Amino acid sequence: MGPDHLANLLEPWLSDSLAGYAAVSMGIRSLVLDGRLPNGTRLPSERAFAATLGVSRTTVSAAYNLLRAEGYMRSAHGAGSLITLPAASVQRPDTRLGEPEEILDLTVAALPAPSRLVEAAVAAAAELPSLLAGHGLHPFGLPALRTAVAKHLTGRGIATDAEQILVTSGALQGWNLLLRAVGRPGRPVLVEQPTYPAVLDALRAHHLRPVPLPVTAAGWDPPPAGMTMAHLTPDGHNPTGLVADETARRRLLAGLQCPVVAVDETFADLILDGPTPPPAAALRHDVVTLGSLNKAFWAGLRIGWIRANPELLARLARERASIDLGSPVLDQLVAVHLLDDAATVLASRRDHLRRSRAALEQALRARLPDWQWFPPKAGMALWVELPRPSATRLAASALDLGLRIIPGPRFTVDGTADRWLRLPFTLTTGQAGIVAGLLEQAWERSALPTTRALRVPRWTA
Ligand SMILES: Cc1ncc(COP(=O)(O)O)c(C=O)c1O
Repeated sequence: MGPDHLANLLEPWLSDSLAGYAAVSMGIRSLVLDGRLPNGTRLPSERAFAATLGVSRTTVSAAYNLLRAEGYMRSAHGAGSLITLPAASVQRPDTRLGEPEEILDLTVAALPAPSRLVEAAVAAAAELPSLLAGHGLHPFGLPALRTAVAKHLTGRGIATDAEQILVTSGALQGWNLLLRAVGRPGRPVLVEQPTYPAVLDALRAHHLRPVPLPVTAAGWDPPPAGMTMAHLTPDGHNPTGLVADETARRRLLAGLQCPVVAVDETFADLILDGPTPPPAAALRHDVVTLGSLNKAFWAGLRIGWIRANPELLARLARERASIDLGSPVLDQLVAVHLLDDAATVLASRRDHLRRSRAALEQALRARLPDWQWFPPKAGMALWVELPRPSATRLAASALDLGLRIIPGPRFTVDGTADRWLRLPFTLTTGQAGIVAGLLEQAWERSALPTTRALRVPRWTA
């Protein structure tokens, strides 16, 4: 990365009044955590960067030394200075040396497995011998699972046949298969803003152009024209937890004039409050539904599906043939058994989430009364609005304290939303107070009074 580009990215930190080297190192660290300086990026030489910033070489040298000590940079002879990621376990500043404390990881919103999973696995293993005589490859999925998924969706209000289901390893694989089959490089694809980061990563990997559709407390903005595809989550938006009611989803679907509309129902079985609106595919017949058991049941299961017309499914199955040929048979059998008992398992998951949501909300209100969030109707996270920027800096301070969180910019197309933060409520209720306490400390640290401002040259000619 050239010195001018890096200086532009660092501008929010440099114009702050942090001491010179601290501003540079904190800025670089924040950009790494935010995903804007990818692992392996080569940084400019100390001399070139110092000249660009208009500071002494000692300032840049001190910043780079700090980053090396924190594990964010390594310098190899002849290869320059490269961005790295620190080891997973960091030393909390309030623990004694040699007693590393486990990190609290809130970058993943997922629950531990339900106890029913073990019974489902035992039942699946007992059934396996009946399938061992065949080759075990089912490009559309195990017939028993396609039938079970079709029944599950029919029960949710959208009549479905097994022929309309392709089993995948999750909603994310479904989205990737769809992009592979129908996406064309450079074409505009509508995505919610904010959205689940992997949705954006998949678009980039397929060289498609994400076009943001703002989602705010007021709901989904009207969609723009001219899109080739869309990815929507009206049944539980990640990260806000919004659910579009029937009127809102009818309006949204009717306003979308694009040939491929993917509705990702990852959180549809985890609507925590209010009525469950009709599935999008029941309101617009050409919707491609991406579904998953990985959030509602267990992320380690890796079973999901695509519901679409049989012609599109055949194209998707052809795409899949060059990826993994199909999902593991034993896991699919486990999924059949879990779906058999879905009503009971899901009711208890929702209860659990309501309780952990209440615990986190209460702890945050007590410690950080000026933070606000959307009241999430579905899912596993609060989308928190901070009273001032920056969530990226907060994430860097929180990591120093042993708490890993994802700041808002990771959820946007353009790196905006730095006053927002996603906080999953998937830890135990007992951990809510610890998380809020760490956030309070990190919040104070991220606003530390500063000593000296850096001179920032203007780059734009
Ligand atoms: C909107 C959305 N789609 C897909 C996924 C990933 O789903 P899966 O684990 O089934 O691939 C997530 C995970 O959080 C998500 O929020």
